[in-house]
Amino acid sequence: MTAYDLARGLHILAVIAWMAGMLFLPRLYAYDAEQNAKPEPLRSEMQGLLRVWQTRLLRIIVNPAMILAWGFGLWLIHIDVTARGWSFLAEPWMITKLAGVVLLSGWHGFLAGQRRKIAAGTSKYSGRFWRMTNEIPFLLAIVMVLSVTTEWRFG
Ligand code: HEM
Repeated sequence: MTAYDLARGLHILAVIAWMAGMLFLPRLYAYDAEQNAKPEPLRSEMQGLLRVWQTRLLRIIVNPAMILAWGFGLWLIHIDVTARGWSFLAEPWMITKLAGVVLLSGWHGFLAGQRRKIAAGTSKYSGRFWRMTNEIPFLLAIVMVLSVTTEWRFG
């Protein structure tokens, strides 16, 4: 077993947890937004429960998984740089992968900001918005995973 094999496995495990959390969180936001149509006290009871789940999912799964995915990803970059130099970072497949990582991290930041707004009652997004945007992480994952597995380049 090499350090690279270990780093790759741990990277994939952290990515699985990050993706799972990022796919579930907007669903909790959708259920939360849809409670606005319910009468009191049902609405407050349901939103109270959903907001506890939102906070726990972010703090216990999504944030730590993102940090670990980044940590193991940077470790992989370090091993790759040592083995084959810096040039692979400028190859199309790696630029595509890193662009996906930046977009996914940005979406993570947006979801974390929205958790605070939902808790404060100032989020303006509907259940429909959260259902429509729910697949964003998975679409980005398709691009990122295929970039690294194919290592595609022009020509
Ligand atoms: C968070 C920041 C990330 C960094 C810095 C990063 C970086 C890397 C690097 C350098 C490699 C090794 C590439 C190679 O040498 O072939 C790698 C492998 C991989 N990455 Fe990431 N990555 C990140 C996030 C992600 C995400 C979000 C996904 C999927 C959604 C992902 C999926 C993969 C997969 C499947 C591999 C294994 C490819 C293989 O060796 O067969 N990574 N990553």
